[in-house]
Amino acid sequence: MQHLDDNTQAQPAPPCIMVIFGAGGDLTRRKLIPSLYHLMREGLLADGFAVVGVDRLELSDEAFRELFEQTLRDYQAAEFDPEVWRRLAERLHYSQGDFKDPAAYQALRQRLQHCTQAHASAANYLFYMATPPSLFSQIIRLLAEAELSLEREQGWRRVIIEKPFGKDLDSAIALNRELHQYLDEAQIFRIDHYLGKETVQNIMAFRFANGFTEPTWSHQFIEHVQITVAESVGVEHRGTYYEEAGALRDMIPNHLLVLLGFVAMEPPNSFDACNVRDEVNKVLRAVQPLSPEDVLTRAVRGQYGEGLMPNGEKVAGYRGSPGVDAQSRTETYAAIRFMIDNWRWADVPFYLRTGKRLAGQFTEIVIQYRHVPFQLFRNTPVEQVQANQLVIRVQPDEGIQLSFSAKIPGPVMRLGRVNMDFCYADYFGNAPTTGYETLIYDAMNGDATLFKHADTVEVGWELVAPVLDVWSALPPRDFPNYRAGSWGPAAAGELLRRDGFRWRHIDSA
Ligand code: BG6
Repeated sequence: MQHLDDNTQAQPAPPCIMVIFGAGGDLTRRKLIPSLYHLMREGLLADGFAVVGVDRLELSDEAFRELFEQTLRDYQAAEFDPEVWRRLAERLHYSQGDFKDPAAYQALRQRLQHCTQAHASAANYLFYMATPPSLFSQIIRLLAEAELSLEREQGWRRVIIEKPFGKDLDSAIALNRELHQYLDEAQIFRIDHYLGKETVQNIMAFRFANGFTEPTWSHQFIEHVQITVAESVGVEHRGTYYEEAGALRDMIPNHLLVLLGFVAMEPPNSFDACNVRDEVNKVLRAVQPLSPEDVLTRAVRGQYGEGLMPNGEKVAGYRGSPGVDAQSRTETYAAIRFMIDNWRWADVPFYLRTGKRLAGQFTEIVIQYRHVPFQLFRNTPVEQVQANQLVIRVQPDEGIQLSFSAKIPGPVMRLGRVNMDFCYADYFGNAPTTGYETLIYDAMNGDATLFKHADTVEVGWELVAPVLDVWSALPPRDFPNYRAGSWGPAAAGELLRRDGFRWRHIDSA
């Protein structure tokens, strides 16, 4: 992550060749190529940059380029710049091959040599695993056997790995062990696309670049924290994957815990990758492990049935989605109450929730402040002074909102609830980004601040392991237990009500 103020310009990343395994897939089309287009537009790719896509389809370089042009035109709309696309397109190459076949790696080697010369590039290779996770270790092994991932004096070799990183603690440890057989930790860039979101990075800026935040950022002033990733979409065409994963595995050990880590971490000594990652790990290690009994009272699961979305669309239940078992017991909603065992956060609950087919599509963090210590207004018409609430809107409408009490004009003392609202778009414009731009650029620069260390991945799985165990031992009997278009199962509301709180968006049904 480059740290820029008004006087500094980001420099183009060092020349390199990005090899995308899974170049014919969705991720490449929807995220990777658009991100490279944005980086090209911003002048952040070196002249010696090129891409080699690898996949099983038979494609010429020309046909490979054509896969993306229309998507880009649609996505960029009026912003599409044919000149930027031309500069990127001439750097896109394709190498056909089966990921499991050593011959594919020999063909790739030749392609790489050719591209290095043709683009006067350096022999720096960034391998991007945009494939199903079951292929990660095999590709890494075959890359190593073809001596393509060995770092030599004249060039670096880095590997970006997509989630899911394992499906539980044991498989994540095993995958880390396999990767470490062939790669140093410093060569591995485990992606969590939430870390690429500007608003997530802004949590650090908001906390550590402003004098007023940190003094109140603790149990002394904060009553509880809510972290919500609500999705109104269903599982779409990913039913087969989702049946195995479920909402908990899909979202909590990675995206939601990343958000918790940034909200709860101690100030790092610097924004150096090691320091930031150490602090995130430290706070995640302080999260109280749940006992099996805790799981019964502190974790809630749900699955949506058919229902009416707020836009009036009638949608089928999860069990009616393609690729999903008609009796499926996979959860599409998960909520957990975590406590953090450290000085700063003693007795402050952190409630995490995520679900599909909910009444809204947004990601936000709610910092609920405590009430003022003294009721100054008790001899006035003011009945109760509401506590302050800070909402960090991660997406959409990215911004930060602080609500507080103000006097309603008039002869008597009455209080009204008002908001101070900062919207990213008002201040910094709204250039379309995918969230992957910074991550790809950082990986090219060797900056791992926004990538996950092996430890961070493992601690994430450790924290959800008791929930996975109890949930698989006690299959749910009440699924489906929330309607599509609602705010999730009733038990999730109860999780907070027991503590005297409620979710910021409550069940409107
Ligand atoms: C992915 C999950 O990692 O994140 C998806 O697999 C989910 O199920 C997505 O929809 C959410 O990401 P975003 O950026 O749209 O909030």
